[in-house]
Amino acid sequence: MHRSKIAGIGMYVPKNVVTNYDLLKYMDTSDEWIQERTGVKERRYADRTGETTTTMGVEAAKVAIERAGITLQDIDFIIFATICPDYYFPGCGVLLQRAMKMKEIGALDVRNQCSGFLYALSVGDQFIKTGMYKNILVVGSEKHSFGLDFSTRGRNISVIFGDGAGAVVLQPTDPSTSLPAGQAAPDQGILSTHLHSDGVSAEILAMYNPGTHANHWKEEKLADFDEAEIGEMFMSHAMIDKAQLFPNMDGPAVFKKAVEKFPEVIIEALNANGLKTSDIKLLIPHQANLRIAQFVQHKLKLRDDQVYNNIQKFGNTTAASIPIALCEAWELGKIKEGDLICLAAFGSGFTWASALLRW
Ligand SMILES: CC(C)(COP(=O)(O)OP(=O)(O)OC[C@H]1O[C@@H](n2cnc3c(N)ncnc32)[C@H](O)[C@@H]1OP(=O)(O)O)[C@@H](O)C(=O)NCCC(=O)NCCS
Repeated sequence: MHRSKIAGIGMYVPKNVVTNYDLLKYMDTSDEWIQERTGVKERRYADRTGETTTTMGVEAAKVAIERAGITLQDIDFIIFATICPDYYFPGCGVLLQRAMKMKEIGALDVRNQCSGFLYALSVGDQFIKTGMYKNILVVGSEKHSFGLDFSTRGRNISVIFGDGAGAVVLQPTDPSTSLPAGQAAPDQGILSTHLHSDGVSAEILAMYNPGTHANHWKEEKLADFDEAEIGEMFMSHAMIDKAQLFPNMDGPAVFKKAVEKFPEVIIEALNANGLKTSDIKLLIPHQANLRIAQFVQHKLKLRDDQVYNNIQKFGNTTAASIPIALCEAWELGKIKEGDLICLAAFGSGFTWASALLRW
């Protein structure tokens, strides 16, 4: 069995910086409230036209592929994680394959929200381990700004999220190209991944509509289509009038579960590899909320230099947040060959996951 490693990493964020003060134009909020509760100072929003979840993914992918020292034609599988797809279907994977003029390779779309990148990484890791593929492109990208409720009604959600993309190229490890002789890191690459879900709270952080749920899952009505004719039920006028086409979140409930599951899945990864929190060089938590990351750091007794956060600049970019933070940390020289890196995520579903890797 081969082990997989991140051979190249890239990120892309749109040029348009939106500060907390900019949001005052649309809703009743304040810079103080947003920073105190979430840590976010600013985020990026993609251009209204010409910039999509896929095109941002393409930009990040170009950098990752170049840094991996390969060409587009070497990529033999695409895994694309997003909750903001360009189309309801088909997914962004094929749009990226088309935009990058890749071969007729497989393209898989992953819909696991904030854990999307780690689920995608785990799938890619399994394909490399079995020897099926040699160069897998894993992308996380989100254009949240298109679908948020920017009125005061949606302020608990809209202030948190931002747009951006990150990508990695996964390749089998080659021990001969690891550290110089005598310093080889035999355990280089992804050591393990750990995936979990609990759908009991699926509606706590969710965008119900448009969908086919037919008000089946909850007693309360999640969509108004009683008056709709056949053919109007997917997206009725009443849904638009009643603002039912936006994401919903019970923030305190998400917070409570996140601070329980983040540490749990990190410890699970460490235990699976016989390692301790003190062995972690850098923890990159999904950038859900700075307060959640700080809570996790405190609970695991990690030093400030062991945790990397950049939600302050980019907001929560869901499936893109881990590859963006990992890329930025690497570009800043915070990650060196042989370092133990822990990635962890929690989000809508609920789903949560971790990955432990030796860079
Ligand atoms: C969303 C979150 C920041 C809200 O913070 P909170 O302290 O729990 O706040 P609440 O939702 O209880 O709301 C407190 C008050 O702030 C108000 N409020 C909500 N959003 C606001 C905003 N952007 N600006 C100003 N006030 C706001 C609420 O309306 C409420 O007012 P009220 O007391 O008059 O009813 C917090 O719950 C959180 O971070 N949860 C986790 C969310 C998360 O990480 N999501 C991503 C998961 S991947």
